Amino acid sequence: MKIGIVLGTRPEIIKLSPVIRELEKLKENIDYFVIHTNQHYSENLNRIFFKELNLPEPKYNLKVGSASHGKQTGMMLEGIEEVLIREKPEIVVVQGDTNTTLAGALASTKLGIEVAHVEAGLRSYDRSMPEEINRVLTDHISNYLFVPTEVAEENLRREGITENVFLVGNTVVDATFQNIKIAEEKKEEIFEGEMLDIVKGGDYFLLTIHRAENTDNSRKLKSIVEGILKVAEYYDETVIFPLHPRTEGKLKEYHLWDKLKKNKNIKMLEPTGYFKFLILEKYAKLILTDSGGVQEEACILKVPCITLRKNTERPETLEVGSNILVDIERENILEAVDSMLRRNRNWENPFGDGRSGERIVKILSESYNLSIKNEKE
Ligand code: UD1
Ligand code: UDP
Repeated sequence: MKIGIVLGTRPEIIKLSPVIRELEKLKENIDYFVIHTNQHYSENLNRIFFKELNLPEPKYNLKVGSASHGKQTGMMLEGIEEVLIREKPEIVVVQGDTNTTLAGALASTKLGIEVAHVEAGLRSYDRSMPEEINRVLTDHISNYLFVPTEVAEENLRREGITENVFLVGNTVVDATFQNIKIAEEKKEEIFEGEMLDIVKGGDYFLLTIHRAENTDNSRKLKSIVEGILKVAEYYDETVIFPLHPRTEGKLKEYHLWDKLKKNKNIKMLEPTGYFKFLILEKYAKLILTDSGGVQEEACILKVPCITLRKNTERPETLEVGSNILVDIERENILEAVDSMLRRNRNWENPFGDGRSGERIVKILSESYNLSIKNEKE
């Protein structure tokens, strides 16, 4: 049996690492290879995760890089197709909702290769988000749908997808559990000086913003910056802000950069490695974000989270009480921060037990063996 894995961005590398780890263990029986589209190529959005997670070098790097949606997806399709024709895998695994995810699924299905979608069934029900389009399309052309929760399973059912849907939990839990211990052990190496003191004291808020709907709209990004400055001033608290390159670019373009830079409470950083980020999450008093993965990790690590969006495809976090939504243009961010800081952190983690990677690989190999047996009969 041969499996192809297609990945290209920071969260895909992190969330597919538990699947790759399982496949490495079973190398004798299952042949696999990785195609990296290079959607993320900067060292600290890409290579750093391969190093920290101890992942083998991808067999193929398509060197696609950044471009408009159509061009980027088109270049990926072309490159992925070429590799798949050469490698002839039985199944291709994709994860999440990026342009890489859609390109991997589409290239495979058009060649008659089965598609396995990890983290299937998520819905924000907001079609203005490129991620929502990628998710819906990928789910509808996938042969194996690995859903993280019952909510995701139900979303698929409503769209008529009921076959080969497997409730396996989210691989983000596997990755968090596997790496938080290592991150803890390395804490003193990773942080130094003032940052080590801040982290040890746990006296800070953590912020990430990168979603196009927030960064590429000057009015929205301005509201977010003003809201964050208000929070930093009111609580006189440090706000640690690792910057996605998209966000850095837009803050500069909309002349918001200096406002943040000049404020003594705001600490802007380059995007951090995974170990550093897990520690920053774990010890934060509160996390403010528009990231999908960060909403989940905050919930798993028992840190209250405010999602700076109108909707979320992770409603489980709202239900258990680890997260609330704040539309920064309409709602009062200070009230939201106050209410989340008071919240009892005894919520349940709805994303599974940390064995999703193992389940996914087991299901794929059993299905394959069954299909071989049926063919012979
Ligand atoms: C992509 C995904 C998003 C995911 C995010 C994870 C899509 C449509 N979006 O968004 O769902 O949450 O990855 O982080 O697939 N850039 C660099 N270095 C890089 C990569 C990008 O500087 O290595 C800059 C470029 O200016 C680029 C911009 O960031 O134009 C946006 O990159 P892109 O991959 O298009 O989207 P992300 O915002 O990263
Ligand atoms: N992350 C990281 N360094 C950072 C910011 C995020 O390692 O500076 C990790 C984080 O732990 C999570 C993932 O990146 O696992 C989330 O990626 P991102 O927010 O870019 O994408 P999304 O989850 O929104 O698709």
